Amino acid sequence: MARFTTLVSLLAAASTFFTGSNAAAIEKRASLTQVTGFSSSNPSNTKMYIYVPAKLATKPAVIVAIHFCTGTAQAYYSQTPYAGYADKYGLIVIFPESPYSGTCWDVSSTNALKHDGSGSDSKAIADMVTYTLSKYSGDASKVFVTGSSSGAMMTNVMAATYPELFAAATAYSGVPAGCFASSSGAADAWNSQCAQGQSIKSAAQWTTIVQNMYQGYSGARPRFQVKHGSIDSTLLPQNYNETVKEWTGVFGYNAATPAKRQFNFPKSGYTTDSWGIDSANPLGKVQGVYAVNVGHTVPVDGDQDLQWFQLGPYATTGSATTTKAASSTVAATSATRVATSAPATTTKVATTTSAAATTSAASGGSGASQWSQCGGISWTGATSCASPYKCVVVNPYYSQCQ
Ligand SMILES: *[C@@H]1O[C@H](CO)[C@@H](O)[C@H](O)[C@H]1NC(C)=O
Repeated sequence: MARFTTLVSLLAAASTFFTGSNAAAIEKRASLTQVTGFSSSNPSNTKMYIYVPAKLATKPAVIVAIHFCTGTAQAYYSQTPYAGYADKYGLIVIFPESPYSGTCWDVSSTNALKHDGSGSDSKAIADMVTYTLSKYSGDASKVFVTGSSSGAMMTNVMAATYPELFAAATAYSGVPAGCFASSSGAADAWNSQCAQGQSIKSAAQWTTIVQNMYQGYSGARPRFQVKHGSIDSTLLPQNYNETVKEWTGVFGYNAATPAKRQFNFPKSGYTTDSWGIDSANPLGKVQGVYAVNVGHTVPVDGDQDLQWFQLGPYATTGSATTTKAASSTVAATSATRVATSAPATTTKVATTTSAAATTSAASGGSGASQWSQCGGISWTGATSCASPYKCVVVNPYYSQCQ
């Protein structure tokens, strides 16, 4: 019954899910195509759809975009800006489709919640990625995953079960990986306790849950961005706090002390917290975007996703096609930074600057500290950096002391 009610409320909300201004404006030149035979074993019959633009970049990046309950690959393709970005930047978008009635994703079964769990949706999606990288000579270091609601739950699960595949993830209004686990191990089960925000665990407990989903894995993990509305009555907002605890825990940061807090960013009423900011990860390795007075779900913000994924105008290598003068500057600056800095590490930033610290740096007149924000659209804090750091434009919304 709880599930039925949820599906009805999701259906009712579906027409207002996406307000991305880019979605309608961009003309799509190729078409969404179903792919079969992408996996040697797909007993759940999870479907794969793909959008390959007419003009593909060399070594294209890949975005996996996962629909909500009652949604389809076609719906998410139409309602999000990702296929438009494929045309614009030559990347590929995979739109998986759930095989279950009501099209929620299986984020509850034993096999869905572990690496290489045969017959599960998560394994099928991983196979879609591997197939696409191979068929189109994709860039394995630029694979990203995003989704809304049930798709955001699956985004959490993919980041936990296949960390080796993804560089970054963005989850719009989901729950932590493992939160929907079914005590009986059943597939596609609803978990009211989690949905209601009553599955409260410590960062250490969530971290163990994630680590157990891929036992023995010690490689890199995708940067993780959590977005959630403060008045979400489908997946209660406590799920924001739990998801933040999970991923800050996995990376070894303290959820209570973000390195940076931005009010009214990226929109009025939103608060953005970032952890793990360093030269290779100017926006951090974990970011939480808490959308005050937003319900279920937070609308897809394609431009912010490109920033988080470091794609298109926000690419960190010189290879991206840039169309704007400002973007060229960003790409050039970033390329220099990458070339001269050490590779990304999972080392924590030794000193974290809270919102208070940033403010005092601003009023103290000595300039903001290393890795602090020093400019960008809507930025009202310090615009100079403490010596010897320089204020570097990362993108139109964010400049940083480096
Ligand atoms: C959850 O996070 C939000 C946004 O940071 C915060 O306002 C709220 O106090 C947190 N809730 C709990 C119970 O920690």
